[in-house]
Amino acid sequence: MTAPHSHTHAHDDASIAEILDLDAVVLTSTLGDITTWVGERVRSPQRILDVGAGSGAGTVALAERFPTAQLLAADRSAGMLDRVRGAAAAAGVAGRVSTVRMDFDGAWPELGAVDLAWASASLHELADAARAFGVLAGVLSPGGLLVVVEMDGPPRFLSGGESTNGSTNAGTSAAESGDGAAELEAHIHELLAEKRSPAHDHPDWSDGIERAGFTRIEKASFVVDLPLEPDAVGGRYAQAYLRRLAPVAVPRMTASERALFEQLIADDGPLSLRRRGDLRLRTGRTVWAARRP
Ligand SMILES: C[S@@+](CC[C@H](N)C(=O)[O-])C[C@H]1O[C@@H](n2cnc3c(N)ncnc32)[C@H](O)[C@@H]1O
Repeated sequence: MTAPHSHTHAHDDASIAEILDLDAVVLTSTLGDITTWVGERVRSPQRILDVGAGSGAGTVALAERFPTAQLLAADRSAGMLDRVRGAAAAAGVAGRVSTVRMDFDGAWPELGAVDLAWASASLHELADAARAFGVLAGVLSPGGLLVVVEMDGPPRFLSGGESTNGSTNAGTSAAESGDGAAELEAHIHELLAEKRSPAHDHPDWSDGIERAGFTRIEKASFVVDLPLEPDAVGGRYAQAYLRRLAPVAVPRMTASERALFEQLIADDGPLSLRRRGDLRLRTGRTVWAARRP
């Protein structure tokens, strides 16, 4: 029964890749801030490993930040690695990017030493991240830098109360719009939290990194709070993200919540995420940097 299974994976990969690509566009400046932060901690890395490269946003951002580096993008998904090669070609860095298909929970092939290992939103998907930290310590050259990036929580588009600078939202916030969308989004996240441990998606890796023998461990937060254009990439990102939550959230909604949700994720209509004027993205990234002694 490999066909339906692999079809599901391919379909799932495509929908994840769509969100990753939209995420990369919406969060371009945050990714730039993070790679700048990394650049302050590692000088001209010559070989970089992207652990769980996905559709290649990090690979490309690192290739652009470190113009003399060779990059190795690793992932278990052949479809994602195709996308990495496409993204690298589109960015004009294909000559410095190679790919390797591998399972981080399995036996690691010989990768050669790297000066920087970057793992963004990937380690929380592993069955055994502690083991991966140990293997990465061996892949990094002495003095090499490990960087781990994770989302600090699920992104919010409608709810979220005060913005991170302490002021309330300018204009009509969703909470003020009176259509119940903010309350519904908050409820969806409560429903998801019941299904999955928040620690699973948004783990604190400090102990695992330390136990693997890394030193000089730093942890930083990058806060995102920005308005999104509904009829551009921001609206598509919000729509794609909420649509992905539907299979878990919709069966647990009341009938009126379900009706509102359908209007939110629709392509058109006054309440659609693609039309409403109160979209904001509130999210954040936690980044760890640590040295291999
Ligand atoms: C959420 S995506 C993150 C992609 C990218 N790093 C980013 O930040 O946009 C996680 C990636 O890790 C890969 N991945 C998850 N578990 C893996 C494993 N055990 N071995 C190899 N790759 C894995 C997935 O295929 C996926 O491409």
